[in-house]
This record gives sequence, structure tokens and C-alpha cells, in this order.
Amino acid sequence: MKEAIFSGVQPTGIPTIGNYIGAMKSFVNLQDTFQATYCVVNQHAITVPQDPQTLRQQTKQLAALYLAIGIDPKKSTIFVQSDVPAHAQAAWLITCQIGLGELERMTQFKDKATKQEAVTAGLLCYPALMVADIILYKAKFVPVGDDQKQHLELTRNFVDRFNNRFGENILIKPEAIYPKSGARIMSLQDPTCKMSKSDKNEKAFILLLDQPQQIIKKVKSAVTDSIGLVNYDKEKQPAISNLLEIYSIFSDRSIEELVNEYHDAGYGRFKSDLADQIVSILEPIQERYQALLNSTELDDILLKGANEANEIASATLSQMEEIMGIAYR
Ligand code: TYM
Repeated sequence: MKEAIFSGVQPTGIPTIGNYIGAMKSFVNLQDTFQATYCVVNQHAITVPQDPQTLRQQTKQLAALYLAIGIDPKKSTIFVQSDVPAHAQAAWLITCQIGLGELERMTQFKDKATKQEAVTAGLLCYPALMVADIILYKAKFVPVGDDQKQHLELTRNFVDRFNNRFGENILIKPEAIYPKSGARIMSLQDPTCKMSKSDKNEKAFILLLDQPQQIIKKVKSAVTDSIGLVNYDKEKQPAISNLLEIYSIFSDRSIEELVNEYHDAGYGRFKSDLADQIVSILEPIQERYQALLNSTELDDILLKGANEANEIASATLSQMEEIMGIAYR
């Protein structure tokens, strides 16, 4: 039997090419080798305020994008988190076994908390829900970007503790899978900051649904340096190195090969070819996305996915409830 993998993306806006490179592209590549489950994590999204109508819309948009990038519902399970009640139920069991200090130490919590006017308990408990997502599917691997490292470590520690207390091998200890290159795509405007769709400067990121003209403009206005040569050197030339990582992933060519081709070409040509390359990958994705978004096919796939996910997740939840003394009959 194939080993299980699980991952999710928050429907808090259209994903960036950072989300795509760090995680979503791997979702597609891994679905042949593993028993893959991919979730639209809408319950994670509400740990910070969301407009209900927008959240509803973005949930379907993200599900359509999962399919449009090439996740195949015949091979993988695609579903929306709130369609599977076991996530919230398991998250409570997990919350009751995680230390307050562990949650308070999470850098993503600290970062996000400083950006909120009112910090909810949900934002603090976010990692417990993420642990639930992963362990319910007995996932051995979790494809994610670099910024999820701490959450994955917390999951691994939790699994050790749970199994020690309640019995060996009840839960599977997961490992993160990071892409070989591009685990942390940086802002196009500041190579010291991660690319993020919540960046106030729209030129800092490229969204999967950006139009060709927008993509060309954003790549053109990406910061570079005064060295003038295309090299992969994250310390001396972080901005160019970031563009090289993006180019490499979008072209399936190695960074060395790209450096050889563009070393003396000048940043103008390098950027113009990079923009064309991104457009050539995103355009067909956008066409598929438009066709899927309002189709009944999408609803059918999500329903089927929810059924498949429910079956696996509720079995693990029952096992946990049993062993913890919550199931009493
Ligand atoms: P989210 O929605 O913030 O991001 C989705 C995925 O994209 C990756 N990512 C990046 N990778 C490279 N460069 C970047 N600039 C970049 N920005 C984002 C993230 O690492 C992530 O893999 N907590 C998760 C969602 C989640 C989850 C899970 C993931 C909920 N439950 C269970 C795995 C397993 C999150 O907020 O991702």
C-alpha cells in the first residue's frame, strides 16, 4: 500500500507563486507515488477575521486551482476542511494535550498576533488544528514550504508524546517534504522578506491568477542589485538568486543551466524571459481554472473528496477517543 501524504493551503486569497513553488507544485508531483490528501483549510483561515462572502468564494477558488494546476481527483483526495467534522473534534483532543508555552513559542503566531488588533484564542490554537489535519490521515509525509517547519516539529513532538502516553504506533510521526529549491520564495521587492499575498505592496508577489501584463510588469519591477551579472549567490545577490529559483521551478531547468545561459545577458533579458516563462505556465492553468470554477464538476469532486476524507478521518478520531476514554459505551 502507498504511504499517505497530507497538505493544505488557506483560502485567504489567491495563492502566490510562492505557495505554488513551496507546496502546490509538489502536490501534483507527489500524487503518483503517495496516497495523497489535499485540503482547503477554511477553518484555519478564520483564525484571523474573514469576510464571510469572500471566504466562501475563495474556498471554491482554491479548490478549482488545486484541480487546475493538475491535482487529479482520481489519484488524490481533494476536500474542504469544514466538510470533515473530525478535524475540529480531533483538534480539541489535541489542544488539551499541548502546552500553552509550546503554542506561545510559535513564530507564526507571534508574527500574526502583532498584525491583529484583537488576537483570538483560535490564532494561538491554530497549530493544534494543523496537528489534527495531519494525524487524522496517518500522513507519513507533509509537503510544505519552509515557513511550516516549526508547526511540523510541534506535530512530531505531539505524536511522540501521544504514543508514549496512550500506546505505541497509534499515530504516525510525519516528516516534512520541502522542495529541493524554492522552499522559501522571497518578495520581489525585498529579498529579505518572504513572498506573501498579504504584503501591502502588490508588486512584491505574483498571484496564480495574475494576468500576463501584470506578471510582466511585476517581474520587470523586481529589485535586483548593481552587480549586473546573473549568479546564484544568496548572500551577495539575494534578489537575483530568488529570481533564479523561480525561473528554475517554472522551467524545470537547473539553476546552473540558467546561470550559464544568462550570466552575462543583462538583467533586462533575464527578466523578460523569466516573465514569459511564468506566463506560459500560468496561462493554461488560468484557462482550466475558469472552466472549473462554476462547474458542477467541482462540487461533485469536493463532495466525493469529503466522503473519502470523512471515512479515514473519523476512523482515526474514533481510535483516539477510544484510547483517551472519551468513548464510554
Ligand atoms: P499557507 O496557506 O500559508 O501556505 C500554503 C503553503 O505554501 C507555502 N508557502 C511558501 N513556500 C515558499 N515560499 C513562500 N514564500 C511561501 N509562502 C507560503 C507554505 O509553507 C505552505 O506549505 N498552516 C498552513 C496550512 C495548513 C497545513 C496543514 C499545511 C493547515 N493544515 C496541514 C500542511 C499540513 C499554512 O498556513 O499554509
